[in-house]
Amino acid sequence: MPTFPARIDSRLPQVGTTIFTVMSRLAQECGAINLSQGFPDFNADDMLFERVAYWMRAGFNQYAPLAGVPPLREAIAHKVAALYGTTYDAETEITVTAGATQALFTAVAALVHPGDEVIVFEPVYDSYAPAIELQGGRVVRLQLAAPDYRPDWDAVAAAITPRTRMIMINSPHNPTATVWSADDLAWLAALTRGTGIVVVSDEVYEHIVFDGTRHESCARDAELAARSVIVSSFGKTYHITGWKVGYVVAPRELMAEFRKVHQFNVFTVNTPVQLALADYMADASRHEGLAAFYQAKRDFFRAALGGSRFELLPSAGTYFQLVRYRAICDEPDTAFVERLTRDTGVAAIPVSAFFADGRDERVIRFCFAKNEATLAAACERLCRV
Ligand SMILES: Cc1ncc(COP(=O)(O)O)c(C=O)c1O
Repeated sequence: MPTFPARIDSRLPQVGTTIFTVMSRLAQECGAINLSQGFPDFNADDMLFERVAYWMRAGFNQYAPLAGVPPLREAIAHKVAALYGTTYDAETEITVTAGATQALFTAVAALVHPGDEVIVFEPVYDSYAPAIELQGGRVVRLQLAAPDYRPDWDAVAAAITPRTRMIMINSPHNPTATVWSADDLAWLAALTRGTGIVVVSDEVYEHIVFDGTRHESCARDAELAARSVIVSSFGKTYHITGWKVGYVVAPRELMAEFRKVHQFNVFTVNTPVQLALADYMADASRHEGLAAFYQAKRDFFRAALGGSRFELLPSAGTYFQLVRYRAICDEPDTAFVERLTRDTGVAAIPVSAFFADGRDERVIRFCFAKNEATLAAACERLCRV
């Protein structure tokens, strides 16, 4: 085995293996039911596979245009306009990406200069801070505190400085399962008015909002749409997280910068999958029905955990459920999930992993994007804890 003969000056010295990988690996080692990492344990619609095979056999296996195949960009433009009322030009304002993570990374790489400040809200999805730091940006962390995890808009106002280049938001929110209201977006619009701040809006769970609440996309608000790079993921919407396909919509000036970076780190996303997704998007009921589909799972999971000693926090969107375990023990959350995986056979994610300083509010996250049989088996075990 070759060994590098010198010291490596790491660009990301604090970063190790993500908690998602760690917990999924532990779950596998212990044969535990894996409610940690956010992916479904059921398959996507056969039609999607048939369409991919169709386009492969029809000879669509070479490079797609940089921004994505035109039918998919048009389908995205149509969906966004139908849902949120803003029309994005498929030619200049929409780009298909290799999942949302690449889209977020590329947006930051394209727009953040060394020394720029980028505001994020903790608990924060794990890819944001490394993306900012690799560009020499400074991560400004604001807190969303348990149990309601609402943004504190006075704190946001106080955190904005002339160096603030970007604010990264995420609603519906992973891991807290909260959704921002129209009021939240009005605050964001007011606080960024007259500035050059770019909003990167991670809306990968846009179609998973419960109890009749609507998703407040930045594309609903003309002022915010004009300064936002909005990111979504087909992985979340069509149960194909392993395909890693997403997209970005943004005003053309921002998109031009985005594409400069995109063309050199990805260039283009695989062709047959894009064409298949364009076909699949033609039926809007497929994304419109997602909220009811996951709400049924949420309700099933919550009801089945009702008899346990876990305290259920609200889950207003996403496919996550936070719980407190104060009635069980006062162990740190990382130790608790490890024990839960080994002794009880159910894996979860400690929410402290989403805080840079490891803030531990004794809250853990379960993913309920699972078959009912999986959820029932997990809950049966969790009720014994
Ligand atoms: C908030 C959030 N953003 C981005 C992503 C990444 O999405 P993708 O798999 O499309 O890269 C995830 C996936 O878990 C997520 O939860």
